[in-house]
Amino acid sequence: MTDFHPYFTHDGSVGLYSPQFNDIYHSATGALTEAYEKFIYPSDIENLMTKESIKVLDICYGIGYNSKSFLNYILENFCQKNFSKYSFSTNSHIASIDTDKINKGNIANYIGKVYGDNISTNSVDKISSKSNQCNVSIYGDKVLPKIYIKAVDFDKFLSQLSPFIKTGVKKIDNSHLDFEYSIINKFLNSDTKIKYKKINNLINYLILSKIIEKSPEILENQDLISVLDNQKYNRFLDDKIISLFEYYRFKMSKNTSKLHFRSFLHNIYYKYVSKGYKSGLKRYNLQDVEFELKNDDARNVIINDNNLYDLIFLDAFTPSKCPCLWSYDFFKLLFEHLETDGKILTYTTSAAVRGAMVEAGFFIGNIYNEREKKFTGTIATKNKSLIKYPLSEFDLGLLKTKAGIFYRDENLTALNEAILARRNEDVKNSTRMSTSKYRKQAIGEFNSSVIN
Ligand SMILES: C[S@@+](CC[C@H](N)C(=O)[O-])C[C@H]1O[C@@H](n2cnc3c(N)ncnc32)[C@H](O)[C@@H]1O
Repeated sequence: MTDFHPYFTHDGSVGLYSPQFNDIYHSATGALTEAYEKFIYPSDIENLMTKESIKVLDICYGIGYNSKSFLNYILENFCQKNFSKYSFSTNSHIASIDTDKINKGNIANYIGKVYGDNISTNSVDKISSKSNQCNVSIYGDKVLPKIYIKAVDFDKFLSQLSPFIKTGVKKIDNSHLDFEYSIINKFLNSDTKIKYKKINNLINYLILSKIIEKSPEILENQDLISVLDNQKYNRFLDDKIISLFEYYRFKMSKNTSKLHFRSFLHNIYYKYVSKGYKSGLKRYNLQDVEFELKNDDARNVIINDNNLYDLIFLDAFTPSKCPCLWSYDFFKLLFEHLETDGKILTYTTSAAVRGAMVEAGFFIGNIYNEREKKFTGTIATKNKSLIKYPLSEFDLGLLKTKAGIFYRDENLTALNEAILARRNEDVKNSTRMSTSKYRKQAIGEFNSSVIN
């Protein structure tokens, strides 16, 4: 059985813990908030919306927060205009159209009993009208750019689980966690309030249907099915998306008579509710979004890829645990896959990573977090004018110390352990200034400039 250790982060979205890396996949403050703050807001999506197409490479897709937030941002900020263009009543929401019919036949109660899902009230998330909030001046009456997302992660189970993950849960229950991790314990005792966010279920539906379309074997993935069926994980997973998944499964299978009844109910569910999702995507012009999942080592996938990307989200585990995705050689590979005005976004501020980016030919800058009022990541680009927050003199100097010695992986095939060992050797043999000496010197210079 695959390792799966979920908990609720502070914004009501689900975070994961990896015993293998003894690391958390997401910030305990808020998995979804982190995706928005580190990847989506600094992407400057408004500018990208003027293009005919947008290509996104999501490296280390995990349970998909970065891709889903990207699509959710577009849905919330740019699709409302389309919605009114299709002259729909701006106060209606998709669910009301379809589930009203179901209620009349009282079928919803059956389905509710079988699947524990009260679809009569809220089958598809409400998308309230925000047409007055949409970015009309930029977007005008244009149709959406063609969107293509390539998502890469070698953990197939997690990728396939991504559309089922809950966000926006208000009543957070983190009792009975099956793992210990001090950062999470600290968070559990904290009372910082984060405004909770939610991924619209239309986006989860979109991801699920794209995965099924390209990899129908997901319907027989026993690891996935046993997690979806396991009561222990109920509170972390969305039962509406699970119901749809079950429908697809039963549609595929040759039914016994008992299953026939379930299948019949699923048919009803699908006919009305899934139809709602489908027409939802169409109305929001999202039906043509291309989403491709690649479950392999990211180095391998990118070597065999010919695209140029507008955005690259790089969300690997911390460099000291997963250096193969932070090496100079990997950034050289990414350089070849980035548009002239493209951006690589990442949460790390590590000098070794920044050093590698600069050596590979990028201009780099900070990512500024408005909520925390501090720099929380790095942006790399080929176009210097896209850098809003350049590195300070101190940070630039840091890249020339031992801390800035980067990871090497010439053939893009080395194991993490080997890459780490090699860098340790490089640091040991280097004549560069030690980072602690550099810091002391910088503090000394600062103090004397204050005194003088
Ligand atoms: C910090 S998590 C990513 C979280 C993710 N962005 C999300 O929204 O859930 C790191 C991910 O990197 C993946 N990973 C680690 N090494 C990899 C490699 N060499 N190639 C592809 N994926 C890798 C892991 O499977 C894990 O899902």
